[in-house]
Amino acid sequence: MPGFELFDQREIDAVADVLRRRIVHRYSFQGVRNDIYKVEEFEGACARKFGARHALGVSSGSAALYVALKACGIGPGDEVITTPFTFIASVEAILECGAIPVLGEIDESLNLDPNCVEDLVSERTRAVMPVHMFGASADMDAFKRVCDDYGLMLFEDACQAMGATYKGRYCGSMGLWGTFSLDPYKIVTVGEGGMVLTSDQELYHRMEYYHDHGHVHDKSIDRGAERKACLGFNFRMSEIQGALGLVGLDKLDTAIGMLRSTRDRVLSEVRDLGLKTRVLPDPEGELATQIVFLLPDGESARRFQRAAKEAGFGCGILSDNTWHYARHWDTLRDGKVYSRVRCPYDCHHADHVPSYRPVEWPVTHSILERAAVFGLDIVMDDARVEALIGAIRAGAKAL
Ligand SMILES: Cc1ncc(COP(=O)(O)O)c(C=O)c1O
Repeated sequence: MPGFELFDQREIDAVADVLRRRIVHRYSFQGVRNDIYKVEEFEGACARKFGARHALGVSSGSAALYVALKACGIGPGDEVITTPFTFIASVEAILECGAIPVLGEIDESLNLDPNCVEDLVSERTRAVMPVHMFGASADMDAFKRVCDDYGLMLFEDACQAMGATYKGRYCGSMGLWGTFSLDPYKIVTVGEGGMVLTSDQELYHRMEYYHDHGHVHDKSIDRGAERKACLGFNFRMSEIQGALGLVGLDKLDTAIGMLRSTRDRVLSEVRDLGLKTRVLPDPEGELATQIVFLLPDGESARRFQRAAKEAGFGCGILSDNTWHYARHWDTLRDGKVYSRVRCPYDCHHADHVPSYRPVEWPVTHSILERAAVFGLDIVMDDARVEALIGAIRAGAKAL
């Protein structure tokens, strides 16, 4: 799946061009940069491609979540409803704000189940943040309805879903904001990087200020003379990342096309086995970075996994995934942070911090323990695709 599979001379030239011009900072140096701003170009290209009014490049997907949450004023005393099946960063970003992540249950799309939101809403709930896992959109119409009913903000963690769509709209462009990760495992990578999309101009400016120490950016004056809008921090993207991102974005549709064509070939070759895949609200829009089979139960999933591995292709069972499933996050359960006051764990604004015990997500567990996953690479030769097909056949035989 990683975008670096498609790296070629274009990435080398893009980075070399930045280095040759010696301007690696996205801001300042107006006198010598000939009006060339690579991060700004990348932001503009992302906003246009994904249908948002604004895009802000930042230093990682985690930073994108954190900057966006902070700009919305999420802080101590607030709750954000999200999913127990996501990369831990989604939850860490909420905790870093001093707010409480309230983790619902997933459905067979492997995304947060919109039907669980209503029961989790309290007077402290400010927002709902579905995560488009494995490049497939959550049911955004249903989330929009429930957020409108309860007056909640709707955020999108689209870190795994750059280029995925839901009913023709791009993931990341449907909520108040949406984030992408550009880390080394993603379909577009710049090494480390992230992007926030929003169509709310005021919110965009807050993010822009916050991610750069509160700078009110103004190209007509020296950076040192710029006004301060707020206290912030440094989550800036560099020009090297911006230049790489522009090339990666240009290759995104090709990468998605290659992944989908491998998925289609594999699924058509194993159709006779009658295996169930995950149930997506808009199957047309998924990236196809993974193929997931939902097997009858946990035991048969183990047999499937063993046989697939023996046949020569790696297969995971999602309930084993220690970084993406809250059941395994003892750091979250134990509130392992280094500060003396452990907000939100023993913060006086937070009276009801969930205990995050492993038994808390029975529905999620019943789905993940029978979910067998195969990761797809963008570039897969015939032999490898055949090996995958053989592994699925072997797995199915062992059910
Ligand atoms: C769903 C999700 N959210 C957030 C992140 C964090 O992104 P990054 O690794 O760029 O910080 C990731 C990264 O894998 C992710 O998968």
